[in-house]
Amino acid sequence: MAGKVNTIGILTSGGDAPGMNATIRAVVRTALAKGMKVKGVKRGYSGLLDEEIEDMDAKSVSDIIQRGGTVLYTARCHRFRDEKWQERGAEICRKHDIDGMVVIGGDGSFRGASRLAANGINTICLPGTIDLDIACTDYTIGFDTAVNTAMQAIDKIRDTSTSHERCSIIEVMGRQAGYIALWCGIANGAEDILTCERYDGNEQAIINNILEKKKIGKKHHIIINAEGVGGSYEMAKRIEEATGVETRATIIGHVQRGGSPTCKDRVYASIMGSKAVDLLEQGKSNRIVAYKRGDFVDFDIQEALAMHKDLDEYTYNMAKGLSR
Ligand code: ADP
Ligand code: F6P
Repeated sequence: MAGKVNTIGILTSGGDAPGMNATIRAVVRTALAKGMKVKGVKRGYSGLLDEEIEDMDAKSVSDIIQRGGTVLYTARCHRFRDEKWQERGAEICRKHDIDGMVVIGGDGSFRGASRLAANGINTICLPGTIDLDIACTDYTIGFDTAVNTAMQAIDKIRDTSTSHERCSIIEVMGRQAGYIALWCGIANGAEDILTCERYDGNEQAIINNILEKKKIGKKHHIIINAEGVGGSYEMAKRIEEATGVETRATIIGHVQRGGSPTCKDRVYASIMGSKAVDLLEQGKSNRIVAYKRGDFVDFDIQEALAMHKDLDEYTYNMAKGLSR
């Protein structure tokens, strides 16, 4: 176990997610209440290497719990994959008296964080990504907001799709994970859900489904397509040609990454932020705070990165069964 920390650095890294600000606020205020200092590192590892580091006080996190994005900004930083720059990152922390670091991001950011820990900076990670694709946790900061944003957009598309008796292909985010697609598929009552984990490329099965549903009087056909499958515009053309049903494609895109976080994201993000400070106070390092089977827990970073996650089979099959 590493030593207790006096000054916490905090950074957000990788894709932003609604609720990151609530996390930052919780880290800052919990740390201050425990008598620690906090320094905000801007633009992820890139800002660390460029020493974009500022003192934070209780006021610097005022009025942010309800805001999407991250007030610390975020970045992807190729330099930090290099050992030389990782050592430099730890040196910069020491130069600024940062002896504990909280990193909010996804798997890539956690790999970077484990290198900071290996170089002597007590480091705790928090899962911040709209994709829900972090294996050690059932919850990631931002997923709830993103999936609600997508759900509301899809409800609207459904209205116009029904009015025109069309097929609509709606592409949601998730380059490597189909959680947003699956959850929207269920919540929006989609006729087909295509995820990179399960879709076998059998477009004929989709075409047959559209024709069958048309026969039984369905007024629309909603296909939720995950970004990882992609190709929605081309798919729409092929489907229209094969079925004779007018088909439109919509890519919801980055609107899913922004916006005011839901209550759940604000509350869970706050709890996770506080837990990160508790762990640093206890002298812990190289850990990820997670939410597993109803409890907030923590895992060793390497153990967490070695875990695998897949769409829940029951939920996936149920979703297919419900679209009749
Ligand atoms: P996410 O954290 O959302 O998975 P990325 O995969 O883009 O996003 O990673 C964010 C940043 O984390 C990268 O730009 C890089 O700075 C750092 N990172 C990613 N992988 C590694 C690695 N193997 N070693 C060190 N740093 C890494
Ligand atoms: O990881 C979150 C996410 O929104 C993915 O769903 C998406 O593939 C990716 O980030 C897009 O990232 P960007 O547009 O920032 O490069």
